[in-house]
Amino acid sequence: MSHKRFPDPFWKANRLFQSTAAEREIKSEAAIMDDFAYKIISERRRDTDNAEKLGPDLLSRFLDCKDPKDVPSTKELRDIVMNFLLAGRDTTACALSWTMYELAKNPEVVAKIIAEVDAVCGSSKSDKISEESYSYDKIGELKYTHAVAMEALRLHPSVPVDSKFAVNADTLPDGTFINPGAVISYSPYAMGRSEELWGKDALEFKPERMMDEEGNNLEPSQYKYSAFNGGYRICLGKGLALMEIKLTLAVLLQRFDFEGCGHEGGYQSTLVLPMDPGLDMKVRKYV
Ligand code: HEM
Repeated sequence: MSHKRFPDPFWKANRLFQSTAAEREIKSEAAIMDDFAYKIISERRRDTDNAEKLGPDLLSRFLDCKDPKDVPSTKELRDIVMNFLLAGRDTTACALSWTMYELAKNPEVVAKIIAEVDAVCGSSKSDKISEESYSYDKIGELKYTHAVAMEALRLHPSVPVDSKFAVNADTLPDGTFINPGAVISYSPYAMGRSEELWGKDALEFKPERMMDEEGNNLEPSQYKYSAFNGGYRICLGKGLALMEIKLTLAVLLQRFDFEGCGHEGGYQSTLVLPMDPGLDMKVRKYV
């Protein structure tokens, strides 16, 4: 809903006077998210009384400071939780939906992922399989699955358009002059589908393009592959997001068969790139 502020020059006044339905909705939804964040924080704060109970989660890491004066205030912690929720939740969820959409159309890619996961983590049918089989290091070895996630994000970047606001006058490398206050937008969506950048088969889903001939992952330039932004403000959660996607694919694809129900690839227009309508799939557990 907050994206409705972008084209509205009066959004600050509308926020102050709560004069539009969008601003009223933002206020009530922000209150729900605040309550959620404060609830998690107070639960973790109770755990700090018993240091052994502090888990490995991010919030516990912020609370687990040797010097109590270094522990962030409750409001700072609320902002940290909100940052992770806003930056990391819908982006990763959209990426997973679009990955499943591409996989439903490319069963040979699913077979390759399962073969890789079986080889690296062990077969899900084996007695030896445990949480450790999907450890951080093991997931890091899933090179083909990594390429699948990168390729899905090339075609369906969770942030399809990103904008920057010039504080001072500047000149871009191609000589374009930027006035102070100007808004510059770039589109990872258009860049990801550009034949100039990716070749004639730019619209095809081909995880192999993210790998070299020896099967190692290629790291395309951030200025060609811009799904995670680039430079100093590159996404801080890139590694976490790719790890989450790989782990989810590894655990689910070994155990369930996913059949797409004919989604036509439509989008909703929001800050991120959700599917319109959502993705229906038939899911069957392998016996
Ligand atoms: C597939 C998933 C994700 C995608 C495609 C993605 C994409 C992006 C993009 C394009 C930006 C730049 C936004 C801007 O220009 O201001 C960004 C920033 C950021 N992302 Fe992500 N993100 C993902 C997941 C995550 C996750 C899981 C986290 C953390 C839990 C995260 C944390 C951040 C943070 C903190 C920033 C701000 C960095 C800064 O401004 O210095 N992201 N992300």
